[in-house]
Amino acid sequence: MCGIVGYVGSGEPSARAEGVVMGGLERLEYRGYDSAGIAVVVPGSPVLAMAKKAGKLTNLAKLLAETPLPHGTAAIGHTRWATHGSPTDANAHPHLAAGGRIAIIHNGIIENYAPLRAELLASGVQFLSDTDTEVAGHLLARYVDGGLSLVDAMRAVARRLEGAFTLLAIDANEPHVVVGTRRNSPLVIGIGDGENFLGSDVVAFIEYTKTALELGQDEVVEITPEGVSITDLGGSPVAREPFTVTWDASAAQKGGFASFMDKEIHDQPSAVADTLRGRLDERGKLKLDEGIIAETVLGAVDKIIVVACGTAFYAGMVAKYAIEHWTRIPVEVELAHEFRYRDPVLSVRTLVVAFSQSGETMDTIMAVRHAQQQGAPVVAIINVQGSTIAREADAVLYTRAGPEIAVASTKAFLAQIAASYLLGIYLAELRGNKFPDEIAALLAELNEMPAKIQLVLDTSEPVRELAHSMVNERTVLFLGRHIGYPVALEGALKLKELAYIHAEGFAAGELKHGPIALIEPGQPVFIVLPSPRGKEVLHSKVISNIQEVRARGARTFVIAEEGDTEAAHYADHLFTVPQTPTLLMPLLTVVPLQIFALELASAKGFDVDQPRNLAKSVTVE
Ligand code: F6R
Repeated sequence: MCGIVGYVGSGEPSARAEGVVMGGLERLEYRGYDSAGIAVVVPGSPVLAMAKKAGKLTNLAKLLAETPLPHGTAAIGHTRWATHGSPTDANAHPHLAAGGRIAIIHNGIIENYAPLRAELLASGVQFLSDTDTEVAGHLLARYVDGGLSLVDAMRAVARRLEGAFTLLAIDANEPHVVVGTRRNSPLVIGIGDGENFLGSDVVAFIEYTKTALELGQDEVVEITPEGVSITDLGGSPVAREPFTVTWDASAAQKGGFASFMDKEIHDQPSAVADTLRGRLDERGKLKLDEGIIAETVLGAVDKIIVVACGTAFYAGMVAKYAIEHWTRIPVEVELAHEFRYRDPVLSVRTLVVAFSQSGETMDTIMAVRHAQQQGAPVVAIINVQGSTIAREADAVLYTRAGPEIAVASTKAFLAQIAASYLLGIYLAELRGNKFPDEIAALLAELNEMPAKIQLVLDTSEPVRELAHSMVNERTVLFLGRHIGYPVALEGALKLKELAYIHAEGFAAGELKHGPIALIEPGQPVFIVLPSPRGKEVLHSKVISNIQEVRARGARTFVIAEEGDTEAAHYADHLFTVPQTPTLLMPLLTVVPLQIFALELASAKGFDVDQPRNLAKSVTVE
């Protein structure tokens, strides 16, 4: 999500501190561009110099050009993807404390910020923003005022925080020090010569050094011009071996990946983990991010309609299987542009759920407005904070996938599915469909999903190799059944939009009602095979469908669950994913299909981040 940079140099104050930090922010802007800011230590001054501005980094650069900051010895900078508080100048980082002597920047979400804020308010602290970050700044100042050094105070702060955070801070009284800490958010240290660096990603300082160290979970770092010292939260020193970055600055903006899309596919474990984190209590009670729909209204819902477009629509199809099963409420899934003009039957008891990564898709905006005009409450599952749908919906559940830059959606899709599971579990609990054992088991299974997605990524090499052998294919078919059906549709969409190959997804049971006429010798067919565990009938039906296409000469590429001993008999190529409850399987089975499309398009020499004729957010109807 947010991007963070820190710098400390030796010698006289110079423009270098500001230059290094602004350059780092430019390369980290992919992590968020809601606002940006910088704070600089100016030796001899009792307060820090700071500039921050809502909007893209260019707004901050313009401000600095008009009103330059004095030269300094150390600096921190931040580019924001808003979570707590809308993207305004006041909510931009850094946040000042101790009367402007201390500045702090943050990436992540401090989950216990409310009680900490209450505690600080009670002791007379005044808050200037709506962010969770400011709490950490004032807490840090309190420890420093109590006599601790900046690094000791940071350790004390980290011990008190819950949630995910990377924090960096500077203090005007320690002009040659920057301190940082992290939990569940990244921070890397760059080792220079007479200067040192901190960044969310090595891209922040790759121009200056390729020697880096990773800060571990719950560790604290202090950088000075002379060195780097790492300790745990108890203050004991930690030894860490540096590594050398093997790629150069030009690849840097993509975090070392050849494309934003590849990077975003690899972000998926954290996108799902962040979307799930801290959302449900053990009874399945969900915290919506914005707005409220009264529990009495939600409890009376007798129909759900999901409205969305493209990949988000397929996430809605996945949600239908899960939400209907858990809640017993009928769920319809409708393309937003069709819903809008169809005169749908809606009432105050119809819950409309809008899925959108950007929150700016005009078709979906119009569907939301149409639903609201008919009196239906709207919940939005959105990735971009403060976007139009997020503002207009009655309540919002944010996916926390971070900025998705590649035009083809990947990590937002997985995050939407994860968010819809949360909504389904919540509605089930609210309506008294109590299945406490199942809810507890589901929550435990959900928490396992990021690691399982990582495993699929780590074993994806055969899919990449396969893609390179298929550059001359003219048409590829995708089959799935039950919750594998939307996965097949998404696999086909990815291949169409990236590799410009004709691709169709079908419900496997529909094959014999027409599409099987397309099968001729050599036709590639991908099949998403359901788990044989607990869904034996479905599994054997899809096995029959595979046999039907094979009998007509198709080449079969089967995505199956590990331990499915039958699958190998029917697959020309078999790819396995870890065992998982059926309703959660799409989070895994779609990943090889994303990688296949990405790799095939790359092998054909196409720009996977900006496929032809497409735009990231479709703001016209
Ligand atoms: C496909 C893709 C699109 C979007 C669709 C909806 O890879 O990205 O199909 O899913 O345009 O966009 P959002 O989710 O922003 O409403």
